[in-house]
Amino acid sequence: MKLYIACDHAAIEMKNEIAQYLREKNHDVEDLGINIGEKIDYPVSAERVARKVAADPASRGILICGTGIGMSIAANKVHGVRAAAVSEVYSAKLTRIHNNSNVICFGARVIGIETAKMIVDAYLEAEFEDGGRHAARVELINKLEQQG
Ligand code: RB5
Repeated sequence: MKLYIACDHAAIEMKNEIAQYLREKNHDVEDLGINIGEKIDYPVSAERVARKVAADPASRGILICGTGIGMSIAANKVHGVRAAAVSEVYSAKLTRIHNNSNVICFGARVIGIETAKMIVDAYLEAEFEDGGRHAARVELINKLEQQG
């Protein structure tokens, strides 16, 4: 499973640490920026990851800004993306199992690096509970998306 990661200037250090952490666990991580000394508006980073994930349904995205909220709002504007902003492990796991989210967002100004690592672990380990009530609800989300 390919992983795309990006951040804005509020979260460069955390993004780099999480990318390294995931690579050490043998994940295939593509870093879409930004790097130390750069600045970017969070919707621009969010779009980079969202477009990649939308084009490859087997992939997942990780977006980190100050709060995670701006990233999730922006990423959710891209067709096919279900982005969730979380601050703890329970929601990280459940947003895979219930919402089939394909992008996880969190805030470098909200959580610490150890919690961030636990969140990505829980998120990547969990699987969507397909074929039942959760699938029907995700279908309703898709319908909303079609309606615009
Ligand atoms: C940037 O200062 C900050 O607004 C951004 O990182 C993020 O928290 C937005 O949701």
